[in-house]
Amino acid sequence: MSAEPLEIHLEQQDLDRGLREDVRVGLAATPKWLPPKWFYDARGSELFEEITRLPEYYPTRAERAVLAAHADDVAAMTGAKTLIELGSGSSEKTRLLLDAFTRHGDLGTFVPLDVSVSALRSSTEQIAAAYPGLRVRGIVGDFTRHLDRLPTGGRRLVAFLGGTIGNLLPAERAEFLTAMRAALETGDWLLVGTDLVKDPGVIVPAYDDAAGVTAEFNRNVLRVINRELGADFDVDAFRHVAVWDPRREWIEMRLRAEHPTGVRVLDTDVVFAAGEELRTEVSAKFRPEGVAAELTASGFDRRAFWTDPDGLFGVSLARAD
Ligand SMILES: C[S@@+](CC[C@H](N)C(=O)[O-])C[C@H]1O[C@@H](n2cnc3c(N)ncnc32)[C@H](O)[C@@H]1O
Repeated sequence: MSAEPLEIHLEQQDLDRGLREDVRVGLAATPKWLPPKWFYDARGSELFEEITRLPEYYPTRAERAVLAAHADDVAAMTGAKTLIELGSGSSEKTRLLLDAFTRHGDLGTFVPLDVSVSALRSSTEQIAAAYPGLRVRGIVGDFTRHLDRLPTGGRRLVAFLGGTIGNLLPAERAEFLTAMRAALETGDWLLVGTDLVKDPGVIVPAYDDAAGVTAEFNRNVLRVINRELGADFDVDAFRHVAVWDPRREWIEMRLRAEHPTGVRVLDTDVVFAAGEELRTEVSAKFRPEGVAAELTASGFDRRAFWTDPDGLFGVSLARAD
Protein backbone atom coordinates (compact mmCIF):
# COMPACT_ATOMS: atom_id res chain seq x y z
CA MET A 1 0.00 0.00 0.00
CA SER A 2 1.44 3.43 -0.78
CA ALA A 3 1.38 6.14 1.87
CA GLU A 4 -1.72 8.31 1.89
CA PRO A 5 -1.22 11.97 0.92
CA LEU A 6 0.04 13.95 3.92
CA GLU A 7 -2.67 15.49 6.07
CA ILE A 8 -1.66 19.12 6.51
CA HIS A 9 -2.54 20.87 9.78
CA LEU A 10 0.27 23.37 9.40
CA GLU A 11 0.11 25.29 6.15
CA GLN A 12 3.08 27.35 5.00
CA GLN A 13 1.27 30.48 6.20
CA ASP A 14 0.88 29.01 9.74
CA LEU A 15 4.58 28.17 9.77
CA ASP A 16 5.46 31.68 8.59
CA ARG A 17 3.22 33.25 11.22
CA GLY A 18 4.63 31.01 13.97
CA LEU A 19 8.23 31.69 13.01
CA ARG A 20 7.64 35.45 12.87
CA GLU A 21 5.99 35.40 16.29
CA ASP A 22 8.75 33.28 17.87
CA VAL A 23 11.51 35.42 16.35
CA ARG A 24 9.81 38.63 17.47
CA VAL A 25 9.37 37.42 21.06
CA GLY A 26 12.60 35.40 21.38
CA LEU A 27 15.02 37.98 20.00
CA ALA A 28 13.49 40.74 22.13
CA ALA A 29 13.87 38.67 25.33
CA THR A 30 16.79 38.74 27.76
CA PRO A 31 18.48 36.33 27.36
CA LYS A 32 17.51 35.76 23.75
CA TRP A 33 16.00 32.39 22.83
CA LEU A 34 14.22 30.46 20.08
CA PRO A 35 12.19 27.25 20.24
CA PRO A 36 13.93 24.17 18.76
CA LYS A 37 11.24 23.27 16.24
CA TRP A 38 12.70 25.78 13.74
CA PHE A 39 15.87 23.69 13.27
CA TYR A 40 13.97 21.20 11.19
CA ASP A 41 13.78 22.33 7.58
CA ALA A 42 14.93 19.69 5.06
CA ARG A 43 18.61 20.38 5.83
CA GLY A 44 18.01 20.44 9.60
CA SER A 45 16.19 17.11 9.47
CA GLU A 46 19.09 15.59 7.51
CA LEU A 47 21.61 16.99 9.98
CA PHE A 48 19.63 15.50 12.87
CA GLU A 49 19.77 12.09 11.20
CA GLU A 50 23.54 12.55 10.87
CA ILE A 51 23.73 13.41 14.58
CA THR A 52 21.96 10.15 15.47
CA ARG A 53 24.83 8.25 13.82
CA LEU A 54 27.66 10.11 15.61
CA PRO A 55 29.82 8.13 18.05
CA GLU A 56 29.13 10.69 20.81
CA TYR A 57 25.35 10.66 20.36
CA TYR A 58 24.37 7.72 22.60
CA PRO A 59 20.59 8.46 22.98
CA THR A 60 19.54 6.96 19.63
CA ARG A 61 21.60 3.78 20.10
CA ALA A 62 20.45 3.38 23.69
CA GLU A 63 16.78 3.90 22.87
CA ARG A 64 17.08 1.49 19.96
CA ALA A 65 18.49 -1.13 22.35
CA VAL A 66 15.47 -0.69 24.65
CA LEU A 67 13.04 -1.02 21.76
CA ALA A 68 14.87 -4.04 20.36
CA ALA A 69 14.52 -5.74 23.75
CA HIS A 70 10.95 -4.68 24.57
CA ALA A 71 8.99 -3.91 21.40
CA ASP A 72 7.26 -7.30 21.72
CA ASP A 73 6.19 -6.40 25.27
CA VAL A 74 4.79 -3.10 23.99
CA ALA A 75 2.78 -4.87 21.28
CA ALA A 76 1.50 -7.53 23.67
CA MET A 77 0.64 -5.13 26.52
CA THR A 78 -1.11 -2.51 24.41
CA GLY A 79 -2.82 -4.54 21.68
CA ALA A 80 -2.93 -1.28 19.75
CA LYS A 81 -4.75 -0.99 16.44
CA THR A 82 -3.31 2.46 15.66
CA LEU A 83 0.24 3.63 16.33
CA ILE A 84 0.66 7.41 16.39
CA GLU A 85 4.19 8.81 16.52
CA LEU A 86 4.84 12.41 17.57
CA GLY A 87 7.95 14.23 16.27
CA SER A 88 8.50 11.13 14.15
CA GLY A 89 11.43 12.36 12.00
CA SER A 90 12.69 9.37 9.99
CA SER A 91 10.70 6.86 12.16
CA GLU A 92 13.76 4.67 11.87
CA LYS A 93 13.61 3.15 15.39
CA THR A 94 9.85 2.92 15.13
CA ARG A 95 10.33 0.02 12.72
CA LEU A 96 11.18 -2.10 15.75
CA LEU A 97 7.66 -1.42 17.05
CA LEU A 98 6.10 -2.03 13.63
CA ASP A 99 7.97 -5.34 13.37
CA ALA A 100 6.71 -6.40 16.81
CA PHE A 101 3.14 -5.50 15.90
CA THR A 102 3.54 -7.50 12.68
CA ARG A 103 4.55 -10.53 14.80
CA HIS A 104 1.86 -10.02 17.43
CA GLY A 105 -1.18 -7.93 17.12
CA ASP A 106 -3.16 -6.53 14.30
CA LEU A 107 -2.00 -2.98 13.99
CA GLY A 108 -3.86 -1.44 11.07
CA THR A 109 -2.69 2.16 10.91
CA PHE A 110 0.52 4.10 11.48
CA VAL A 111 0.23 7.87 11.92
CA PRO A 112 3.53 9.76 12.10
CA LEU A 113 3.21 13.48 12.95
CA ASP A 114 5.98 16.02 12.47
CA VAL A 115 6.54 19.69 11.63
CA SER A 116 9.02 18.64 8.95
CA VAL A 117 7.26 17.97 5.63
CA SER A 118 10.44 16.64 4.02
CA ALA A 119 11.11 14.14 6.83
CA LEU A 120 7.48 12.96 6.74
CA ARG A 121 7.41 12.57 2.97
CA SER A 122 10.39 10.28 2.90
CA SER A 123 9.50 8.34 6.09
CA THR A 124 5.89 7.65 5.05
CA GLU A 125 6.94 6.45 1.60
CA GLN A 126 9.61 4.17 3.02
CA ILE A 127 7.42 2.74 5.78
CA ALA A 128 4.49 2.15 3.41
CA ALA A 129 6.81 0.28 1.03
CA ALA A 130 8.33 -1.81 3.82
CA TYR A 131 5.01 -2.68 5.53
CA PRO A 132 2.47 -3.55 2.85
CA GLY A 133 -0.95 -3.90 4.43
CA LEU A 134 -0.29 -1.10 6.94
CA ARG A 135 -2.22 2.11 6.41
CA VAL A 136 0.27 5.01 6.66
CA ARG A 137 -1.25 8.45 7.28
CA GLY A 138 1.36 11.16 7.82
CA ILE A 139 0.27 14.37 9.55
CA VAL A 140 2.11 17.67 9.19
CA GLY A 141 1.40 19.23 12.55
CA ASP A 142 2.72 20.63 15.81
CA PHE A 143 2.53 18.34 18.83
CA THR A 144 2.12 21.36 21.10
CA ARG A 145 -1.00 22.46 19.20
CA HIS A 146 -2.63 19.63 17.29
CA LEU A 147 -3.14 16.75 19.70
CA ASP A 148 -6.90 17.20 19.43
CA ARG A 149 -6.65 16.27 15.74
CA LEU A 150 -5.21 12.78 16.24
CA PRO A 151 -7.20 9.97 14.65
CA THR A 152 -9.75 8.29 16.92
CA GLY A 153 -11.26 4.82 17.02
CA GLY A 154 -9.63 1.54 18.07
CA ARG A 155 -7.02 1.12 20.77
CA ARG A 156 -4.27 3.72 20.25
CA LEU A 157 -0.63 3.83 21.21
CA VAL A 158 1.14 7.18 21.01
CA ALA A 159 4.93 6.96 20.77
CA PHE A 160 7.05 9.99 21.62
CA LEU A 161 10.63 8.87 21.12
CA GLY A 162 14.12 10.31 20.92
CA GLY A 163 13.91 12.16 24.24
CA THR A 164 12.07 14.94 22.38
CA ILE A 165 9.82 15.47 25.42
CA GLY A 166 12.94 16.88 27.10
CA ASN A 167 12.93 19.78 24.62
CA LEU A 168 9.84 21.12 26.40
CA LEU A 169 10.36 23.26 29.49
CA PRO A 170 8.82 21.78 32.69
CA ALA A 171 5.62 23.87 32.49
CA GLU A 172 5.27 23.12 28.76
CA ARG A 173 5.81 19.44 29.52
CA ALA A 174 2.99 19.41 32.07
CA GLU A 175 0.75 21.18 29.57
CA PHE A 176 1.73 18.72 26.85
CA LEU A 177 1.06 15.63 28.99
CA THR A 178 -2.30 17.00 30.14
CA ALA A 179 -3.32 17.72 26.54
CA MET A 180 -2.06 14.28 25.55
CA ARG A 181 -4.21 12.62 28.20
CA ALA A 182 -7.23 14.70 27.15
CA ALA A 183 -6.75 13.56 23.54
CA LEU A 184 -6.74 9.87 24.55
CA GLU A 185 -9.49 7.53 25.76
CA THR A 186 -9.07 5.54 28.96
CA GLY A 187 -7.18 2.38 27.98
CA ASP A 188 -5.10 4.04 25.25
CA TRP A 189 -1.32 4.06 25.74
CA LEU A 190 1.67 6.39 25.69
CA LEU A 191 5.24 5.22 25.06
CA VAL A 192 7.73 7.93 25.93
CA GLY A 193 11.51 7.93 25.63
CA THR A 194 13.53 10.00 28.11
CA ASP A 195 17.25 10.53 28.28
CA LEU A 196 18.44 9.93 31.86
CA VAL A 197 20.57 12.02 34.22
CA LYS A 198 24.16 10.81 34.11
CA ASP A 199 27.76 12.01 34.15
CA PRO A 200 27.87 15.34 32.24
CA GLY A 201 31.12 14.04 30.74
CA VAL A 202 28.93 11.66 28.73
CA ILE A 203 26.06 14.06 28.04
CA VAL A 204 27.93 17.17 26.87
CA PRO A 205 29.87 15.54 23.99
CA ALA A 206 26.56 14.16 22.66
CA TYR A 207 25.59 17.81 22.07
CA ASP A 208 29.04 19.02 21.01
CA ASP A 209 30.56 16.40 18.75
CA ALA A 210 34.10 16.47 17.46
CA ALA A 211 33.04 16.53 13.79
CA GLY A 212 30.96 19.68 14.32
CA VAL A 213 27.68 18.23 13.01
CA THR A 214 25.69 19.48 16.02
CA ALA A 215 27.24 22.92 15.54
CA GLU A 216 25.98 22.94 11.94
CA PHE A 217 22.56 21.76 13.10
CA ASN A 218 22.44 24.53 15.70
CA ARG A 219 23.49 27.27 13.27
CA ASN A 220 20.91 25.97 10.76
CA VAL A 221 18.21 27.86 12.65
CA LEU A 222 19.86 31.13 11.62
CA ARG A 223 19.86 29.99 7.98
CA VAL A 224 16.15 29.14 8.27
CA ILE A 225 15.42 32.66 9.60
CA ASN A 226 17.56 34.27 6.89
CA ARG A 227 15.74 32.35 4.17
CA GLU A 228 12.18 32.45 5.51
CA LEU A 229 12.15 35.98 6.92
CA GLY A 230 14.70 37.66 4.65
CA ALA A 231 16.98 38.28 7.65
CA ASP A 232 20.74 38.83 7.39
CA PHE A 233 22.30 36.86 10.25
CA ASP A 234 26.05 36.51 9.75
CA VAL A 235 25.93 32.79 10.53
CA ASP A 236 29.71 32.48 10.88
CA ALA A 237 29.72 35.09 13.65
CA PHE A 238 28.06 32.53 15.97
CA ARG A 239 29.76 29.67 17.76
CA HIS A 240 27.90 26.56 18.93
CA VAL A 241 27.91 26.07 22.72
CA ALA A 242 26.50 23.18 24.78
CA VAL A 243 26.19 23.81 28.54
CA TRP A 244 25.11 21.40 31.28
CA ASP A 245 22.91 23.04 33.92
CA PRO A 246 23.39 20.88 37.04
CA ARG A 247 20.54 22.50 38.99
CA ARG A 248 17.88 22.02 36.34
CA GLU A 249 19.50 18.85 35.00
CA TRP A 250 19.30 19.91 31.39
CA ILE A 251 21.60 20.68 28.49
CA GLU A 252 21.26 24.01 26.76
CA MET A 253 22.37 24.52 23.20
CA ARG A 254 23.25 28.11 22.52
CA LEU A 255 24.73 30.23 19.75
CA ARG A 256 27.36 32.64 21.08
CA ALA A 257 28.26 35.80 19.15
CA GLU A 258 32.03 35.68 18.70
CA HIS A 259 32.16 39.46 18.23
CA PRO A 260 29.59 42.28 18.23
CA THR A 261 27.11 41.58 15.45
CA GLY A 262 23.63 42.54 14.43
CA VAL A 263 20.76 41.25 12.38
CA ARG A 264 18.00 43.05 10.53
CA VAL A 265 14.86 40.96 10.82
CA LEU A 266 11.14 41.85 10.66
CA ASP A 267 11.98 45.53 10.16
CA THR A 268 13.94 45.58 13.42
CA ASP A 269 17.66 45.81 14.14
CA VAL A 270 18.69 43.30 16.79
CA VAL A 271 22.13 43.70 18.34
CA PHE A 272 24.32 40.95 19.83
CA ALA A 273 27.16 42.02 22.12
CA ALA A 274 30.42 40.05 21.93
CA GLY A 275 29.85 36.83 23.89
CA GLU A 276 26.08 37.26 23.99
CA GLU A 277 24.17 34.00 23.62
CA LEU A 278 20.97 32.91 21.95
CA ARG A 279 19.42 29.78 23.54
CA THR A 280 18.19 27.45 20.82
CA GLU A 281 17.35 24.23 22.68
CA VAL A 282 16.88 22.79 26.13
CA SER A 283 17.25 19.04 26.46
CA ALA A 284 16.15 17.88 29.90
CA LYS A 285 17.54 14.71 31.41
CA PHE A 286 15.26 12.69 33.66
CA ARG A 287 15.24 10.51 36.75
CA PRO A 288 13.04 7.40 36.52
CA GLU A 289 10.86 8.40 39.49
CA GLY A 290 10.45 11.94 38.11
CA VAL A 291 9.04 10.62 34.83
CA ALA A 292 6.56 8.40 36.72
CA ALA A 293 5.43 11.37 38.84
CA GLU A 294 4.87 13.57 35.79
CA LEU A 295 2.89 10.82 34.07
CA THR A 296 0.74 10.20 37.16
CA ALA A 297 0.09 13.93 37.61
CA SER A 298 -1.38 14.08 34.12
CA GLY A 299 -3.63 11.01 34.36
CA PHE A 300 -1.38 8.19 33.17
CA ASP A 301 -0.40 5.03 35.00
CA ARG A 302 3.10 3.88 34.17
CA ARG A 303 2.95 0.12 33.64
CA ALA A 304 6.55 -0.47 32.53
CA PHE A 305 9.90 1.28 32.57
CA TRP A 306 12.85 -0.13 30.66
CA THR A 307 16.42 1.08 30.21
CA ASP A 308 19.27 -0.03 27.96
CA PRO A 309 21.92 -2.25 29.62
CA ASP A 310 24.08 0.80 30.46
CA GLY A 311 21.19 2.70 32.04
CA LEU A 312 21.62 5.68 29.74
CA PHE A 313 18.09 6.03 28.37
CA GLY A 314 14.65 5.13 29.73
CA VAL A 315 11.43 4.20 27.95
CA SER A 316 8.13 4.37 29.86
CA LEU A 317 4.93 2.65 28.81
CA ALA A 318 1.91 4.28 30.46
CA ARG A 319 -1.81 3.64 30.22
CA ALA A 320 -4.35 6.46 30.10
CA ASP A 321 -6.32 5.95 33.33
C1 LIG B 1 15.01 15.16 18.37
S1 LIG B 1 14.19 14.80 16.84
C2 LIG B 1 13.64 13.13 17.14
C3 LIG B 1 13.30 12.38 15.90
C4 LIG B 1 12.89 10.91 16.12
N1 LIG B 1 11.65 10.81 16.89
C5 LIG B 1 13.98 10.15 16.82
O1 LIG B 1 13.70 9.59 17.89
O2 LIG B 1 15.09 10.06 16.29
C6 LIG B 1 12.73 15.76 17.04
C7 LIG B 1 11.70 15.60 15.92
O3 LIG B 1 10.50 16.28 16.32
C8 LIG B 1 10.10 17.19 15.31
N2 LIG B 1 9.52 18.33 16.02
C9 LIG B 1 10.15 19.25 16.79
N3 LIG B 1 9.26 20.09 17.35
C10 LIG B 1 8.03 19.69 16.92
C11 LIG B 1 6.70 20.14 17.17
N4 LIG B 1 6.48 21.18 17.98
N5 LIG B 1 5.68 19.47 16.58
C12 LIG B 1 5.92 18.41 15.75
N6 LIG B 1 7.15 17.94 15.48
C13 LIG B 1 8.19 18.57 16.07
C14 LIG B 1 11.33 17.51 14.50
O4 LIG B 1 11.02 17.87 13.17
C15 LIG B 1 12.10 16.17 14.58
O5 LIG B 1 11.72 15.30 13.55
